[in-house]
Amino acid sequence: MSTLVLHVWRQTGASAPGKFERYEVQDVTPDMSFLEVLDVLNETLRARHVEPVAFDHDCREGICGACGMVINGRPHGPREATTACQLHVRHLPAGAEIWVEPWRAKAFPIIKDLVVDRGAFDRIIQAGGFVSVRTGSAPEANAQPVPKHAADLAMDAAACIGCGACVAACPNASAMLFVAAKVSHLGLLPQGQPERYRRVGRMVEVMEEEGFGACTNHGECMAACPKEISIDFIARLNRDYLAAVLRPRLSEGAGEPTEG
Ligand code: SF4
Ligand code: FES
Repeated sequence: MSTLVLHVWRQTGASAPGKFERYEVQDVTPDMSFLEVLDVLNETLRARHVEPVAFDHDCREGICGACGMVINGRPHGPREATTACQLHVRHLPAGAEIWVEPWRAKAFPIIKDLVVDRGAFDRIIQAGGFVSVRTGSAPEANAQPVPKHAADLAMDAAACIGCGACVAACPNASAMLFVAAKVSHLGLLPQGQPERYRRVGRMVEVMEEEGFGACTNHGECMAACPKEISIDFIARLNRDYLAAVLRPRLSEGAGEPTEG
């Protein structure tokens, strides 16, 4: 058991001023998750009639993407490929004081303390991140063969949990890695082909409307991503977007963009 010193960003609302508050959390064990440390802190605060720290969470097993926060300057904290809920005290630098902040991006306004509004991601998905054909009952598994390479890549892209760490890490607050993952996991599969170019055009359009920045190849998104989504998917997004822009002109007589 030890004591962990946290400096937590406190802010009552989007337009209220915020500041760091220093807290000492007692009886912390190496095997506690970071969210459990915040739970203990909140129990202590409640006992003292102090407003608990607001933080987002749901699954606590790295699959829902809700628990985003910046820990010691890094989205999701110091451990690679790990969400904040799966970060444990033993992964934190021994004896160090820990600074905890919300995502910082114009497109993710702060709701309270560590909670931000990631609704912009939902609106990007609503713009095209789906397959809208009627699927009926489940087809026979081998009726539509999918090349192994495409299936593997689509599965890698589908690992994105929509947490927003890529936006928080990027100096431009770009959402390109998120959009690239969502566009790719559908665009690589046969079922995603009919809407492939309309999808990428609409999702990029909404991404820009929501105020996310452009990608300038810093690579910070990939380094921060807890699901290790590769920036190769951004290259794929750019190729599909270019094809989406060229498609109307090409279909006037010069041929279709190459699939792949
Ligand atoms: S690409 Fe990675 S960092 Fe970005 S939202 Fe998806 S899982 Fe989170
Ligand atoms: S709480 Fe679901 S990913 Fe962390």
